[in-house]
Amino acid sequence: MSSVVVVTGSAGLIGSESVRHFAGLGMDVVGIDNDMRGYFFGKDGSTKWNLDRLTKEVGERYTHHDIDIRDRDGLLKLFASLGKNVGLVIHCAAQPSHDWAAREPFTDFDVNAVGTLNMLEAVRQHAPTAPFIFTSTNKVYGDLPNSLPLIEGSTRYELPEDHKWYGGIDETMSIDQCLHSVFGASKVAADVMVQEYGRYFDMPTAVFRGGTLTGPGHSAAELHGFLAYVMRCVMEQRVYHIYGYKGKMVRDAIHSHDLVSAFEAFHKAPRVAEVYNMGGGRFSNCSHIEAFQIASEITGLEARTDYVEQNRVGDHQWWISSTSRFEQHYPEWKLTYDVPAILREMYEANQDVWKA
Ligand SMILES: NC(=O)c1ccc[n+]([C@@H]2O[C@H](COP(=O)([O-])OP(=O)(O)OC[C@H]3O[C@@H](n4cnc5c(N)ncnc54)[C@H](O)[C@@H]3O)[C@@H](O)[C@H]2O)c1
Repeated sequence: MSSVVVVTGSAGLIGSESVRHFAGLGMDVVGIDNDMRGYFFGKDGSTKWNLDRLTKEVGERYTHHDIDIRDRDGLLKLFASLGKNVGLVIHCAAQPSHDWAAREPFTDFDVNAVGTLNMLEAVRQHAPTAPFIFTSTNKVYGDLPNSLPLIEGSTRYELPEDHKWYGGIDETMSIDQCLHSVFGASKVAADVMVQEYGRYFDMPTAVFRGGTLTGPGHSAAELHGFLAYVMRCVMEQRVYHIYGYKGKMVRDAIHSHDLVSAFEAFHKAPRVAEVYNMGGGRFSNCSHIEAFQIASEITGLEARTDYVEQNRVGDHQWWISSTSRFEQHYPEWKLTYDVPAILREMYEANQDVWKA
């Protein structure tokens, strides 16, 4: 069996968790990351610290390439040299922020959409049987979730219990004819292309549409990394700006470990052109208000927040994923972290770096 895993965005949250996980299973991992998160979000966003940690921990099973996924020839050369040894591809490199995308639409689309096509074509030419996992986003559903009949509670919005999506929104929601944000649209292009390489070229591709992906490996920045940035603000006593919806918007949160264990399940029994919503579901979700309450309980510190009336363009008022399609295909997979466990771990893991 081919034993090389190629991970893009390997110094980022999901990429680094993937590197550790598959190296731990005895596979050699080739990582691609050019620290572009530092360009997107400044010093807070740089993933260099995580790459340093990773190379120390994983040692010789890990080989790093500072390639930009926009560099089509660079990717083709790398995959030509690896050839059929590639047994799995996990594509996580991206411009991940809603708000940032509107600043530089060309850069956002070149990284998210064209970079994904570059990856798909390099894999099709040199390792077409390798399962190809793509981290898409629930933002492909644009602002359609905001048309759900939400009820306002004291700390969160909620769906009526008898609504078909009370347990979580599934993949049958339309991705069409709604406001996506520039970021959401570039991810739709990538998401559909990954499905197309599955259906058209019969490659084992899978799209994982994430809710909030989180974990201690996140380089928490204001524009990206919700729970990590909540915890960082409380620990460093920074002011967190809450944008709109009275802070009652709900997100489900999945720990990077739980997401990567889903990748492992797909790797063991790949399928063609699959699409899965992936998040913490009913097991792990919170509103902004609730996230601050939990972070304050864990740290013993008051949260410093500032309320901005205008919500972020296209931001979801309520999102809880249904993971039932994935669970039907991979019944052994389970979520293990809920929101309090995620925040507690972040607090414990970042004592040395996030200080007031
Ligand atoms: N974190 C979330 O809440 C969330 C939610 C839904 C979907 N996603 C998606 O999951 C994926 C991983 O997210 P994450 O939170 O790990 O992001 P991250 O920003 O932590 O990691 C992405 C990594 O990709 C690298 N990168 C960016 N552009 C690059 C380029 N042109 N060439 C090479 N490397 C590049 C960055 O330097 C970074 O280290 C992304 O595709 C993101 O859109 C994330």
